[in-house]
Amino acid sequence: MIDTPRRTGYDAVVVGGGVVGLASAWRAAQRGLSVLVVERDRPGAGASGVAAGMLAPVTEAAFGEEGVLALNARSAQMWPAFAAELAGHTGVDVGFRASGALVVGVDRDDAEELRRQLHFQQSLGLDAEWLTSREARRLEPRLSPRVTGAIHAPEEAHVDPRSVVRALVAALESDGAEILMATASGVAPDSVTLGDGTRIRAGSVVVAAGCWTGSFEGAPVVRPVKGQILRLRASEPLTERLVRTPRCYVVSRTSGEVVVGGTVEERGFDTDVTAGGIHRLLEAAWEVLPEIEELEFVEASARLRPATPDNLPVIEERDGIVWATGHYRHGVLLAPVTAEAVVEMLEPARVA
Ligand code: GLY
Repeated sequence: MIDTPRRTGYDAVVVGGGVVGLASAWRAAQRGLSVLVVERDRPGAGASGVAAGMLAPVTEAAFGEEGVLALNARSAQMWPAFAAELAGHTGVDVGFRASGALVVGVDRDDAEELRRQLHFQQSLGLDAEWLTSREARRLEPRLSPRVTGAIHAPEEAHVDPRSVVRALVAALESDGAEILMATASGVAPDSVTLGDGTRIRAGSVVVAAGCWTGSFEGAPVVRPVKGQILRLRASEPLTERLVRTPRCYVVSRTSGEVVVGGTVEERGFDTDVTAGGIHRLLEAAWEVLPEIEELEFVEASARLRPATPDNLPVIEERDGIVWATGHYRHGVLLAPVTAEAVVEMLEPARVA
C-alpha cells in the first residue's frame, strides 16, 4: 500500500478497495494492465471487512427480487475456483466451506414464513427441502429443541471476507498493482482526481465505492443500508452449516469464530453500534442456538451496504465510466462475477 501514486497514469484506476473493487482490480492486473486502486481508508474498511461471507443465493432469494438470483447463482458457482485460485496465488486460505444452510423457525409464524420461502425457492427450481425438527437437529445437534422445522439448502457456502480481502491485497501486490490510500474527489472517463487535487490519468475508470459511489457526478442512485453484526469465539465450530432464522444468521468458522448478523436499518451514513441492535441479534441467535450465551464476545460492528432502488447491482459502463456498485446484501457473493464483467468493459488501450 502506498500514499503517493508511483506513476502519473494507469491503464485502469479502480476507486474502492472492498471485495468488488479489489477483485476487479486483480482481474485487470492479471490481464497485464497497470492498475491503481484508490481506497479512502484501508482495503476492506467498509462492508467487506465485517461481512459474514455467506454465499447463499438460495436462502437470500427474496420475493420480487428474482432478477438478482441468476447473477447470485452464477457467482456462487464461480466461488470454489475463485477461492482456490486466490489461495494458490497467495497462500491465504480464504475459508471457503461448502457447508450448506439450515433456515430454522421456532413458532407458528416462523413455520408459515419458512413454508412460503420454501415454496418460492422450489418454484424457482432451487435446491431446498423441508426438514422436521428432529431431522434438522440430527444435522445440527446444537439446535434448540424449540426449533419446529427447517429449510435445508445443501448447496449454500461461506467464506471469510477478511481473509478474502487479505488474499486480494496480496494477489494485487504480487501482480504489480498499486493500492493508494487516498480519497477520490472526482472521476471522469480518463482520470481520477484525488482530494489534494492530484489528477491521475486512466485508460479506464472503475467506481466500486459502495454506498459512497453516490458522491460522484453521474453516479447511479445508491443509498447506505446499515447492518450491525457480532463476532463471538467458540472453542470449536458451533455448527457445520450456516444457520438462519427470519431474524438473524449465524456463520461458524473452523477457527472457532462465530458471526451473528445482521440488522437492516435505514439510518443514512450512521454506523453507531447500538445496545438494541446487539440485543436483538443475540436474542435471535440464542433462541435457536442456546450455547451462544457461553461464547466469548469479541466484536460488534456496523457498516453500510450499498443498495439501489430495485436492489439490483449496477455493473455497467455509463458515460465512459465503469460502475460496479449497489451489491446490497451480496457484495462478497457477487465479487467473482462482477470482476469478470468489469474486466470485459475495460479499455484495452494502454495509458502508461
Ligand atoms: N449478506 C447478509 C447481509 O448483508 O446482512
